[in-house]
Amino acid sequence: MTAALLDTFGRAATDLRVSLTDKCNLRCTYCMPAEGLPWLPAPELLTDDEIVRLVEVAVSLGVRTVRLTGGEPLVRPGLTGLVARLAPLVELSLTTNGLGLTRLAQPLAAAGLRRVNVSLDTLRPQRFLDLTRRDRWSEVVEGLAAAVAAGLAPVKVNTVLMRGVNDDEALELLDWCLERGYELRFIEQMPLDPQHSWDRAVMVTAEEILEQLSAHHTLTPAERGHAPAEVWLVDGGPARVGVVGSVTRPFCGSCDRIRLTADGQLRTCLFAREESDLRSALRAGATDAELAVRMQAAVRGKKAGHGINDPDFLQPSRPMSAIGG
Ligand code: 5AD
Ligand code: SF4
Repeated sequence: MTAALLDTFGRAATDLRVSLTDKCNLRCTYCMPAEGLPWLPAPELLTDDEIVRLVEVAVSLGVRTVRLTGGEPLVRPGLTGLVARLAPLVELSLTTNGLGLTRLAQPLAAAGLRRVNVSLDTLRPQRFLDLTRRDRWSEVVEGLAAAVAAGLAPVKVNTVLMRGVNDDEALELLDWCLERGYELRFIEQMPLDPQHSWDRAVMVTAEEILEQLSAHHTLTPAERGHAPAEVWLVDGGPARVGVVGSVTRPFCGSCDRIRLTADGQLRTCLFAREESDLRSALRAGATDAELAVRMQAAVRGKKAGHGINDPDFLQPSRPMSAIGG
């Protein structure tokens, strides 16, 4: 048995996204209804011990990087302790909406967290309130500054542009990030919302974004590697900007990631329709070797691509917040 997570298309999974909770303290309109979602029952969530154990097994199979996600990972109690246990095992990063970073950036960095991606879709507090249904724009902005101060470098900003909502801000967001030394990444909106209201026509495409930015900045392609973002040097660099064209420029052929949901299900793609129930195996007393075999079997079932552009595409039954962003 080779100690790797290989699929039938020759890809090796080396990056694991671990969702720590499906809960969130914002209610972004494209992600959740105002009232929230039926949260996972607490007993179904993996404990810290269970997460550490599964990450150890994944590491024995070649996983080298772990990104903590949610929901909103900063709302998980005891996060700093979990980070301190995971950091010696893998290169650790985290995706957050930024709320709570003013308090947590420093302890998380001290516990071994390397980097953060902070989601911010607008520079206008009123628009932030409309988009997230919470009046907390300045806390996010303060959180970004706290991340830099804590040495979590590079600090990246994730932005989803939506037509008629915030698509007039691409350039402002880039200039704002450039001034502060943040690396901006635009993400094409994907069909992952529980309301099933995704509309291809509302999605702002990678091409449109690049067109807007190129009108004011010189963009030259930078090294991409396995990262989903296509990255450009801005005005000769070293500043960079990324665009994740998940829908119009899919990168499935070089995908190296898999996902563990907060309730212990292994998924080989955001858009997978199948999950492997590692939590049940774990709680039934599976050995590390048995868990490894399960992980390998799941990864062998990884599909060639997400299929968003296929006529028979079906959205996954879980929303993004319950899968992990
Ligand atoms: N499409 C693209 N990105 C999304 N995010 C949430 N829902 C979607 C979607 N449907 C983003 C968030 C955050 C990251 C975790 O994923 O804005 O930046
Ligand atoms: Fe929370 Fe992220 Fe969903 Fe917004 S997109 S509601 S920040 S999980």
